[in-house]
Amino acid sequence: MQVAGRQLKVLVMYYSSAGHTRTIAEQVANAAQADLEELRAVGEPSGTGAGHYFWTLRHLLLSQKPLLVPVEHDASTYDLVILGSPVWLGTFSPVLRSYIRTAPLARKRVALFCSYRNAPGPAFKHVARMLSTSTVMTDTLSFLDPVAAGLSSITIRTQRWVHDLELAMTALEGRAL
Ligand SMILES: Cc1cc2nc3c(=O)[nH]c(=O)nc-3n(C[C@H](O)[C@H](O)[C@H](O)COP(=O)(O)O)c2cc1C
Repeated sequence: MQVAGRQLKVLVMYYSSAGHTRTIAEQVANAAQADLEELRAVGEPSGTGAGHYFWTLRHLLLSQKPLLVPVEHDASTYDLVILGSPVWLGTFSPVLRSYIRTAPLARKRVALFCSYRNAPGPAFKHVARMLSTSTVMTDTLSFLDPVAAGLSSITIRTQRWVHDLELAMTALEGRAL
């Protein structure tokens, strides 16, 4: 991503259970020339079978905060951190929310995307509230059933979104001068 002739350092951190959000994250990282990392929780069952489903439900219904497998990328060294998650019960997944609670995102510029099946509901608003010490970009990207929509549609929409983020970042840089 280029802003005012400077190559920005961009990081995409995401969680995906069944692969939909992963597909979007890969396209976003491509378009933004970003580093990409998938978040995982300690003790999270692999796959998408019954074991994983009950693990998910337990965390959602009991508001449990999963412990993350240590991440490789240090968000504090990036100009923009892009966070993506499936929508679960109207917000981001507990794993992504654990990342927000523990990552060095204060005073960082942060952008948000999600995949969903019915409606994203208040997911972005809820997560933006958690990021009260960051600058959350107002442009978000949400995908209804992205795998069914097809890769070319994901590519076009993510490229457009990254371009819009570039313009918004340029405006913010101008204001900071
Ligand atoms: C436990 C659970 C809760 C979900 N809650 C919602 C929801 O509130 N709204 C919605 O639109 N989709 C909901 N979904 C559907 C997922 O957001 C959707 O399938 C998403 O694309 C999955 O992304 P992934 O493949 O990256 O895991 C839910 C799925 C699961 C498993």
